Amino acid sequence: MAIIYHASTREFHLYNRRISYIMQVMENGQLGSLYFGKKLADRQGLRGLGRTPSGVRPHAVFVREGSFLSLNHVPREYPSYGTGDFHDPAFVIEQENGSSVSNFTYVSHKIYAGKRELDGLPATYTESDTEADTLEVLLEDAVSGVRLILRYTIFSALPALARSAEFVNAGTCPVTLKRAMSMSVNLPDADFDMLYLCGAWGRERYPTVRRLAPGIQSIGSMRGISSAEYNPFLLFKRPGADEFAGEVYACSLIYSGNFLMQAEMDPFGLTRVLAGIHPNGFSWRLQPGERFQTPEAVLVYSREGLNGMSQAFHRLYGRRLARGPWRDRERPIVINNWESTGFAFDEKSILALAETARKLGVECFVLDDGWFGGRNSDRAGLGDWTANRKKLPDGIGGLSRKINAMGMKFGLWVEPEMVNPDSNLYRAHPDWILHVPERSISPSRHQYVLDFSRPEVVDAVYEMLHTLLKDADISYLKWDMNRYLTECYSVTKQPWEQGKVFHSYILGVYRLCKKLLADFPALLLESCASGGARFDPGMLAYAPQAWCSDDTDAVERLKIQYGTSLAYPVSSISAHVSAVPNQQVGRVTPLQTRAEVAMFGVFGYELDFNALTVEERQEIAGQISFVKEHRKLLEYGTFWRLLSPFGGGEAAWMTVSESGEEAIAAYYCILNRPNGEAKRLKLKGLNPDRSYIVDGDRGTVCPGDVLMEFGLPIRPEPSHDFSSRLFYLHAAADAGDDFKK
Ligand code: GLA
Repeated sequence: MAIIYHASTREFHLYNRRISYIMQVMENGQLGSLYFGKKLADRQGLRGLGRTPSGVRPHAVFVREGSFLSLNHVPREYPSYGTGDFHDPAFVIEQENGSSVSNFTYVSHKIYAGKRELDGLPATYTESDTEADTLEVLLEDAVSGVRLILRYTIFSALPALARSAEFVNAGTCPVTLKRAMSMSVNLPDADFDMLYLCGAWGRERYPTVRRLAPGIQSIGSMRGISSAEYNPFLLFKRPGADEFAGEVYACSLIYSGNFLMQAEMDPFGLTRVLAGIHPNGFSWRLQPGERFQTPEAVLVYSREGLNGMSQAFHRLYGRRLARGPWRDRERPIVINNWESTGFAFDEKSILALAETARKLGVECFVLDDGWFGGRNSDRAGLGDWTANRKKLPDGIGGLSRKINAMGMKFGLWVEPEMVNPDSNLYRAHPDWILHVPERSISPSRHQYVLDFSRPEVVDAVYEMLHTLLKDADISYLKWDMNRYLTECYSVTKQPWEQGKVFHSYILGVYRLCKKLLADFPALLLESCASGGARFDPGMLAYAPQAWCSDDTDAVERLKIQYGTSLAYPVSSISAHVSAVPNQQVGRVTPLQTRAEVAMFGVFGYELDFNALTVEERQEIAGQISFVKEHRKLLEYGTFWRLLSPFGGGEAAWMTVSESGEEAIAAYYCILNRPNGEAKRLKLKGLNPDRSYIVDGDRGTVCPGDVLMEFGLPIRPEPSHDFSSRLFYLHAAADAGDDFKK
């Protein structure tokens, strides 16, 4: 891995064994893009390959008389609008005189080993300086005096690059950022399909593909959080690329608030991709001396298809975005009471459920919504984070100690960013919510959003949560967020500061997470937003796992987990077995299938164990002991998608240990076919020179190359809809010598 600056040609080359990213200082002093893709040998003079047209084009606007440099026709690193480039810009900076014209030119750069933190924002990190190198390019707009720092970090072991931008008002007058995207990148040509994760409550993150075409195509959120509708993740793949082969360019934004990701293809085939905070509703005034840091975006380039791309994100996000003691640890198997009790429980019923859970091998009891204030429905109580003594006479402290005494950890649900109008907190501080004076608030789930752009509001919530965590034995916190932001206005801010509210809100959420984790470093956070409406890399930096969806039906979860795995590691995908008929879709699936889907996630249950038969409880005890035995492999192995649940009546995926010695593969028959062909599943990631003992197929011993090229026979054959088969494979001690030619 290296970052080289060729001074004579003013070219930068960032590369590792797999990727190259090359840019240049153009003749007008601005930064231009040259190449991003498979690694090239380092050399200078690549600027000759630039896309500058060699003749005059009608309508072209040039940077000066006598020059052929038309900004509309060349890929630029962090483009502006107003001087001849007519695409959507990466930033807009309004100056005192009302003009947004700027000219940021190269001043200097520095290259250093490792990576620095981003102020107030979650970002990828390194644990040693050998893991990454960073380039910072300093540019300046001479007229306004504003400086711009573009940051690029290239990771040594991954085909990944982290990017962000920082504005520093080094001038003498205030300026206002109207748009400040995290990055702009150019695709090499226009022959791509665009894939993004799209959905809604109960069906989050379905992969959606469309052909890239001239014009702007975008996804984004104006909901205040990243949303169930669109995830801050976007990729471009060659039309023939599939899960296993082909070129993929992917972009992910480490952010949990309003975002925009777009591709703009022009009639010349120039394709510019932008990612960052959504410019709608955003404006940020910078007084002289002030700075603004954008969130970080991550680019991944893969030649190994979608799986190759996903595996790079899994490694980076699982190991160098998530942090804290839980990052690499096996996660506790939980029982969560929400789907079985709703709001209707008391200490006695909770302890009865906990006792059975403990006997089955569950490690953590998570008490969900309904334990606090006047909370007997979703109409009251949010904001009053003290126990409802009618339900829990000994409070959370008492209950947590009783659960601990059983030998289980205790977890708790909270929704820190919200308040019900029917709560003591709201009665005491009606002005703490986001609202526009004299206008009504659009209702949603009978709750209002606290104004987390105000430090004093965040501090007050911090005090309540701190007291709660200090006085009880709480190992796990499920941090929920159940409504989108509307009337996003902060009464303590000046009119010209209102464009800061959305972003400041998210900064407040990050600050609160960080502060609580600093006080309680052993705490395991699980994020949640009506299921998976804030399943994004920003939250992942604090909460290493997220409740993936309120839809726990096994068939639906195949799709949701499949889509989620495009960008996020299995260790971040919280997945529980729940009752049938399923609450969301009414489907009845076997207990085995429900568990064998949830096992490819952070495993747990939402069932009322006491309402099950003895046989069902025995089956569950078996599932739990299987997960405990193979948890490291399930949560942290290399994950491969094999058959898409969106394709037809079946699905499959697998995980392989780092050494390649162990693997678990799962095949799901969604709709059975009469008189079908004998099924074989082509496995991936095994050692072709080893033989594997296949548990689940009568202990057959089979060579790795055969399993990958010919396939693993699915035996016994599926006999009904919604059935699943799980295979545990481990390398035979004789290293497969019997099978070698
Ligand atoms: C959200 C969550 C659920 C549950 C409920 C409680 O919908 O996604 O898992 O916690 O809130 O109100």
